[in-house]
Amino acid sequence: MIIFGASGDLTKRKLMPALYTLYKEKRLPEEFVVLGIGRTAYADDAYREHILKEMDRFITPKERVEGTMMEFISHLCYLTIDPAKAEGYGLLDQRLQELTGEKKSDNLLFYLATPPSLYGVIPLHLKGAGLNRQHTRIIVEKPFGYNLESAQELNKVYASVFEERQVYRIDHFLGKETAQNILAFRFANGIFEPLWNRNYIDYVEITAVENLGIEQRGGFYDGAGALRDMVQNHLIQLVALTAMEPPAAFNADSFRNEVVKVYESLAPLTEEDLNEHIVRGQYTASSTKKGYREEANVAPDSRTETYIAMKIGINNWRWSGVPFYIRTGKQMPTKVTEIVVHFRETPHQMFRSKGGAGKEANRLILRLQPNEGMVLKFGMKVPGPGFDIKQVMMDFSYSELGGLPTGDAYARLIEDCIQGDPTLFTRSDAMEASWRFFDPVLRYWKEHAEAPLYGYPVGTWGPLESEAMMHEHGAEWTNPCKNLTNTDQYCEL
Ligand code: BG6
Repeated sequence: MIIFGASGDLTKRKLMPALYTLYKEKRLPEEFVVLGIGRTAYADDAYREHILKEMDRFITPKERVEGTMMEFISHLCYLTIDPAKAEGYGLLDQRLQELTGEKKSDNLLFYLATPPSLYGVIPLHLKGAGLNRQHTRIIVEKPFGYNLESAQELNKVYASVFEERQVYRIDHFLGKETAQNILAFRFANGIFEPLWNRNYIDYVEITAVENLGIEQRGGFYDGAGALRDMVQNHLIQLVALTAMEPPAAFNADSFRNEVVKVYESLAPLTEEDLNEHIVRGQYTASSTKKGYREEANVAPDSRTETYIAMKIGINNWRWSGVPFYIRTGKQMPTKVTEIVVHFRETPHQMFRSKGGAGKEANRLILRLQPNEGMVLKFGMKVPGPGFDIKQVMMDFSYSELGGLPTGDAYARLIEDCIQGDPTLFTRSDAMEASWRFFDPVLRYWKEHAEAPLYGYPVGTWGPLESEAMMHEHGAEWTNPCKNLTNTDQYCEL
């Protein structure tokens, strides 16, 4: 496995811990080498030491088994080259020959964990050096492209170097056990599917928010923003899992065909949607924490969004008229990823409800993180006189099944790629269909400098305007904990 960007953040934070987990659980081939590539100079030993030190920050002491860790580390080596330049690829070929003992081994897996600007360059250099061999695979990180046009360009580059079966566009949300469980929940149970449509569902909310800022990623993030970082990939994948038709079989083609169908059915955004059904925000300073514009490598007058909420429609028989409200944000009060399916109210409300907020109807919450599990909410009579109804919960927690397997989404996805299973990776047509839908938003923001960007103080649930968008539907966002700030601290930027 050859990792480009081996001295970077993703490698130490996610890839090495995932590979270590796979190694510890004997899910890697007996003989393997991980060759890190980067511009930062390291000798093999120095790189091993560096990773060993970093490992402690990203795996728990319980996960670390000393002997196994040292064995795993001994499989790592490093080559200092500039991946942007063709010159280094001859050295790479030579190093691979030494490591594999073969002149033209094609049992190679390339992983592109570099800045996105290199995603189009590296494959061409691999081709130039004859490293795009028949069984070779390549994993490419997100964001794949910057907009529709650049994604199409990238797809063309990949198609000129590899066959589609060799290209694995990774979106780690699909590697999450709980995301896959949405499919199991929907398609392994008979009782929900008959209700899973516009006749019984009023609206769907999808939230993926975090209580961290952009950390050390200002350079990348300021040019990307929440739409490219989270929405065009992770959130829309969750929309697809929630909205898709049952695939004919659970294999790569059937599953990915259904994903594409959802993307192609997304109702194109109108001028009204762009104006009124998209709210973008940027976090501003609180008494203890920096605002976005004060972060390192962020322009002091940046208009990059760190929050976005959108109303999305799906034009098909199942979902016509059912809005999907999606939102993501940095520096929110908590970290939570969940899907809330709001069922329609009963046609006639005979009883009084007690202590309920918003509409009193059944709700199903699929929680991806934390406290992974699901909750079904329904009304019950409050004991005693009268006939008051209270919403109660029936809940299931993953911990009851022994918890989630060790290693996270990355371990699962790297293993799938090694085994040649692309089901949980994004196909080129899905990538383009998703960009096609979001492209008008990017264009609109570019062409309308005056389009509002709302400030929200660190630790709050985002701009108040996103609440107003929900109120239009007579609803409110489901916030797992309360707002922490006074409303007068909000402003337009
Ligand atoms: C990444 C984004 O893809 O997903 C990050 O680039 C974000 O900005 C992260 O923090 C969230 O992933 P998770 O698995 O921690 O919810």
